[in-house]
Amino acid sequence: MKAAVLQESNGPLVYRDWNVEANEGEKLLEVKFAAINRRDLWIQKGLYPGIKLPAVLGSDGLVYENDQAFLVNPNLDWGDNPRVPASSYHIRGLEKEGTFAEFTAVHPDRLAKKPSHLSDEQAAALPLGGLTAYRALVGNCNVQSTDRVFINGIGGGVALFAAQFALAIGCEVHVSSSSQSKIDQAIQLGATGGVLYTSDMWGKNYKKQVGGFDVVIDSAGGDGFPQLINLCNIGARIGIYGGTRGTINGISPQHLFFKQIHIFGSTMGNDQEFSEMVDLVDKYKIVPHVDEVFRLQEINKAFAYMKNKERFGKVIIDCSN
Ligand SMILES: NC(=O)c1ccc[n+]([C@@H]2O[C@H](COP(=O)([O-])OP(=O)(O)OC[C@H]3O[C@@H](n4cnc5c(N)ncnc54)[C@H](OP(=O)(O)O)[C@@H]3O)[C@@H](O)[C@H]2O)c1
Repeated sequence: MKAAVLQESNGPLVYRDWNVEANEGEKLLEVKFAAINRRDLWIQKGLYPGIKLPAVLGSDGLVYENDQAFLVNPNLDWGDNPRVPASSYHIRGLEKEGTFAEFTAVHPDRLAKKPSHLSDEQAAALPLGGLTAYRALVGNCNVQSTDRVFINGIGGGVALFAAQFALAIGCEVHVSSSSQSKIDQAIQLGATGGVLYTSDMWGKNYKKQVGGFDVVIDSAGGDGFPQLINLCNIGARIGIYGGTRGTINGISPQHLFFKQIHIFGSTMGNDQEFSEMVDLVDKYKIVPHVDEVFRLQEINKAFAYMKNKERFGKVIIDCSN
C-alpha cells in the first residue's frame, strides 16, 4: 500500500510503498479520509517527544469496514484513570502507524460509527480536534448553557470545534482572531461577537464593551494570555490546551486569586469523552468546517497550506486517491 512517510526531521513527507501489519485483535481497514493536526507539523519539525523515524503520521481518520463508515478514536492506552492518562498513553500517528495511508491497523474498540449527517470528509475532521475541544470545554471547564464563553483564536481547528460545541450547548459565545473575516464567519455560525487579538489591551477593552466571561478557551498562551485574565468574570474557568505563542508572562497573581480563577491544562480526552463528543455532534447535527481537501500524494502541499493565514477549519487528506 501507499503511505505518506516522514523519513527525517524537517524533511518532506515521502509518498511511497509501506507495509503495515495488524497486531492481534486489530483489523487492516481502508482509510478514506484523514485530517492534519498541528501535532503533525510539530512532529515533522522534530518538536515532539519520542520521535522514531521513519513514521506514518496522521491521527484522524475515517475508515470503512464492510461498507460501514467509522471514525477512528486516536487515543491509545489511556489507562484506568479517567482524569489523567497513564504513562503508556500515546496518540495514533507516530509510534503507532497513522492515517496518512491507504490502510491502517485498528482495534475495533477504537471505532465509532460515523454520525449520519456528516460527509466522509467532515467526519474525518472530527476525532482529535473534537476530543481536545470537548475535554477542555466540558470535561475540564464543565461548561453550562448559562455560561458566557470566550474562544481565543477562532481560526484554529480545535478552537472552532469548541465554539460549535458551546453554541450547541446553548452558551453565548464570543471569539477572537487575527482576522476580521474569521470573526465574521464565527458570527455566521452563531457567535454573538468578536475582537481582534492584535489590538492593544484588547481583552480589557472588549470586557468593557460586552461584559465578562465565565469560560475561556485558549491554545495560544504567550503575551496575549493576560488579556484573557482581564476578560474573566469572578470564578471563571480557563481551559488551555496549546501553547502556540509560547511562554506566558505578565500575569499578576492578585488577578488570579481575587477573581478566584481556575485554570485547567487540558490534553486530548479519555475514551468516555470521545463517545460523549461524537454523541454531541450527532445530537445537535454539528458539522465540522472543512477548509480544503488534498490527495494523499499532495501531502506536502497540504502541510504547507496549514500555514495559510486565511485557513478556517480543517485540512483533509483524501487517502483513496
Ligand atoms: N493538548 C492537546 O491535546 C492538543 C490537541 C490539539 C492541538 N493542541 C495544540 O493547540 C494549538 C492549536 O492547535 P490547532 O490544531 O487548533 O491549530 P491550528 O488549527 O493551526 O490553529 C492555530 C490558531 O491559533 C490562533 N492563534 C495564533 N496566534 C494567536 C494569538 N496570539 N492569540 C490567539 N490565538 C492565536 C490562530 O487563530 P486566528 O487564525 O483566528 O488568528 C490560528 O488559526 C497547537 O499549539 C497544538 O499543538 C493541543
